[in-house]
Amino acid sequence: MIGRAPTLIAEKIADLRAEAQGLERDGNVEGAWSCLGDAHVLSQPWAEPHVRVHAWMLGLGWRTRSVREVVGQVARLLVAGPGSVTGRFPVGNSGRSNVSAFTPAPVRADFAALLIEAEPQDAVAVLEATEVRSLYDRMAPFYDVASKPYGWFGARRLAKRAIEELRLEPGDIVVELGTGTGRNLETLSAAVGSGGRVVGVDLSPGMLKVAQAKVDEMGLGNVVLVEEDMAVYELPKGGTGGVLSTYAMEMLPTYEKVISSLVGQVRPGGRIVLNGLRHPDRWPDWVTRAGSALSRPFGVSEAYESHRPWEVIERLLTDVVYDEAMSGAAYLSAGTVPETGEKP
Ligand SMILES: C[S@@+](CC[C@H](N)C(=O)[O-])C[C@H]1O[C@@H](n2cnc3c(N)ncnc32)[C@H](O)[C@@H]1O
Repeated sequence: MIGRAPTLIAEKIADLRAEAQGLERDGNVEGAWSCLGDAHVLSQPWAEPHVRVHAWMLGLGWRTRSVREVVGQVARLLVAGPGSVTGRFPVGNSGRSNVSAFTPAPVRADFAALLIEAEPQDAVAVLEATEVRSLYDRMAPFYDVASKPYGWFGARRLAKRAIEELRLEPGDIVVELGTGTGRNLETLSAAVGSGGRVVGVDLSPGMLKVAQAKVDEMGLGNVVLVEEDMAVYELPKGGTGGVLSTYAMEMLPTYEKVISSLVGQVRPGGRIVLNGLRHPDRWPDWVTRAGSALSRPFGVSEAYESHRPWEVIERLLTDVVYDEAMSGAAYLSAGTVPETGEKP
């Protein structure tokens, strides 16, 4: 991105720089480098602080007579700005000359949370598709780490159950809508086997890039990824046996229309399974508002109160299963597409 970091990030970078200066004064040069490395990780998405951190590193290299750092930091100063503007930077890289300038590294969980929290979001508005795309493109490198806390409260367990509720057989075609970084793809791929096919659909190229890297690394030959808005995506012809969406369908204001259309496209007897966040009826109001604010960086809005995809499943499908986790803040809803003429 061009320009300055949001206040939250700018303040943290300033704190880290002050800490680095203190450590340098005390003769702890390695400690100072470590603080500037942390500042670098936080600065990378924004050109101005990114360039500034490399200038600080150049200064430290100069004062400590490190030829390697001086040469390395001059080179990094030249590429830092363009890297931030184009979004092509190695996420998690410390920015020092003792690591390759192109190698990403894991981001500390608290930094990932900070980077995501820094995104300004409206409390009530449901995001447009273009806003979802750019939000998740920016979040893609941090998504798996930043969404971990939901797992501690049972969100991932419910997603695993959602996959079981697809009741897939070897040879099936299964489509995952809003596949994100592809966390469900390995299990889906194993469930349909080499004779089956998994199609992961998402509108964020950034999320799909992370998913594709996992698919390649795991050698999942039966998985294809498609960049498309699920609001208009049409299922593959030839008998899709299951459709899954975890933590994505409720983002769509037109979910009712989309689910109804899926019912017409999945083969009779196939399963549609949704799992996602919902307005928790049993939580005190202030806790709900706090939870909604914490989830806002993921595009969650208070408008979720009126988003009830499970009611569409209950209305249109047979053999319906419903469950909840996170004290009612996450739902699982699954059903079978009726045979022609069969009443749900
Ligand atoms: C919270 S993430 C969930 C990702 C994944 N299913 C998981 O469980 O980790 C939501 C994902 O849905 C995608 N998404 C949201 N709206 C979409 C739409 N209309 N069409 C396709 N993908 C969409 C986002 O890009 C993002 O990758």
